[in-house]
Amino acid sequence: MFKNADIAAWLTLGGMRAVRTRCAIGWRRTVRALEGRPAALFLRQYVAHPNVVGSVWPSSPWLVRSMARPVPAQGDGLVIELGAGTGVVTQALLDRGIAPERLRVIEREPTFVRLLRRRFPGLHVIQGDARKLGALLDDGAPVDAIVSSLPLRAFESQDVDAVLGQWRTLLRPGGQVVQFTYVLVGGELEGLRDGFAECERRIVWANVPPAKLTVFTRVV
Ligand SMILES: C[S@@+](CC[C@H](N)C(=O)[O-])C[C@H]1O[C@@H](n2cnc3c(N)ncnc32)[C@H](O)[C@@H]1O
Repeated sequence: MFKNADIAAWLTLGGMRAVRTRCAIGWRRTVRALEGRPAALFLRQYVAHPNVVGSVWPSSPWLVRSMARPVPAQGDGLVIELGAGTGVVTQALLDRGIAPERLRVIEREPTFVRLLRRRFPGLHVIQGDARKLGALLDDGAPVDAIVSSLPLRAFESQDVDAVLGQWRTLLRPGGQVVQFTYVLVGGELEGLRDGFAECERRIVWANVPPAKLTVFTRVV
């Protein structure tokens, strides 16, 4: 005869199995629903290269609008976007009115580059590394603004130095850098004290996770 404890154990095991099955079905449905969408590509790239991609989802519409807003829509110099991913910031810069011929979109991951070229035919999408930015650009073209989604806090310190060194060399005096981080309190990059003055800082809560956006001006 079964005792009460045996029946309880059976019920518990059965319950756990049912929960596991429901979770598996839910996960498969989520993956299927995302299939072919930029967000699914982003998630896959994150799983493959977490320190390069730096986040699980593309930035939210609120964050990308906040990133594009400080960039002057008029001007002759280049606007450089670093770490374009699936192109959400790229689209916000175009919506802001930045002329496509001023825009240079830099992305290191080939999978994202293919998607960006499909999504923005005719735009200058350049596959390359932000640490060697100068070599990727048209010689001597002045740079008005750099809009960066690079996960700099996940970089080795020598890589951060290389990226910031490029910004100091290429950005014209008075030009702007827009950078965001998920570190909301503190966590400022030492290197940005040298040659840049902070002119705006705000937290964008409507993003997963919330992000701190900082705007710097190049000073000499
Ligand atoms: C946090 S994701 C941002 C993607 C997109 N801009 C957004 O806001 O959703 C960072 C992006 O930077 C790219 N990246 C990382 N290191 C890079 C490097 N050294 N040079 C160029 N792109 C890089 C990654 O491949 C990834 O697409």
